[in-house]
Amino acid sequence: MKKTWSKSAPSNIALIKYMGKKDTAQNLPDNPSISYTLPHLTSTVELKLNDLGQDMWEPLRDSKDEVPLTLGPKEVNRFLNHLGLLKQQFGINQNFTVYSRNNFPGHCGLASSASSFAALTSCAVSAFSEINEKEEPSVQTVAMLSKLGSGSSCRSFLGPWCLWSENSVEAIEFGFKDLIHSVVVTDAKKKKVSSSLAHKNVKSSLLYQGREQRARIRLGLMIQAFNNLDWPALFELSWAEFWDMHSLFETSNPSFGYMNADTFAVLTKVKEIWRKIGDGPVVTMDAGPNVHLLFRKEQKQMHDGLMSQFKEQSYKVFTSI
Ligand code: DP6
Repeated sequence: MKKTWSKSAPSNIALIKYMGKKDTAQNLPDNPSISYTLPHLTSTVELKLNDLGQDMWEPLRDSKDEVPLTLGPKEVNRFLNHLGLLKQQFGINQNFTVYSRNNFPGHCGLASSASSFAALTSCAVSAFSEINEKEEPSVQTVAMLSKLGSGSSCRSFLGPWCLWSENSVEAIEFGFKDLIHSVVVTDAKKKKVSSSLAHKNVKSSLLYQGREQRARIRLGLMIQAFNNLDWPALFELSWAEFWDMHSLFETSNPSFGYMNADTFAVLTKVKEIWRKIGDGPVVTMDAGPNVHLLFRKEQKQMHDGLMSQFKEQSYKVFTSI
């Protein structure tokens, strides 16, 4: 039997956000969300059987020059707890060392928990199915196991567009495919309030009342915009949705937030383009200060010009092309 297993999984960026849970243990969202898969932002997990009597975590290194991933004790525990839960589900008693890496900075709003939990879950499921000499469960089942580790990770299993409602994920056929994605990193430092904590804290905002309904209405309108290939409508809906989420952060008690002066500078630049020519990228933000931009293929020239400007201003940019 093999002693090492390895899997990679992509990150994803939500246009309708998962923010607020019905059930924290199960990571059941208060509202359905829609995401776009980001295959250029990936996590890789390797599992090795060990005889140390306990599960361990280590950074995975691709090359000697690579700066290894660092996880704090809480993050290591969260990762190993999820492995423990999966072992229990599959009746596995052996111990493992989990090696992991991201090809992008983590914990700053680039959805590293989505890709890392998706990679850990798919690697563990594959290893445990082989150990048990059983067929691997369906993608749907694996995605729902991954959700127990981190909610948004369940959307990394189907794409390019994925709709997650409660206990199911589905790939949706939308006209806008093969988009160019770039994320402008205004700050790669670790965020002070994790997404998991944000899910709890937003419930203290008076704006949380009505949030589920607003998200559901916006989701319906977004599906219409996709069906009508209405890019400006998609831009407006995505813009309103990330502001809705960031407004929940800023109006919580105590309030918290992620945006910085550079975030505003990037957002202002994008808004200017839309105002000038009536076209531009679809914009969204996660729980972090960095700005995600989606461009149609035919907007490549606009994309390249804008990214050169951001790079000249010393922002790091991660791009899908
Ligand atoms: C702001 O999936 O990181 O990125 O389930 O507690 O692990 P947990 O939270 P997580 O939340 C992601 C929130 C978000 C919006 C989104 O991706 O939909």
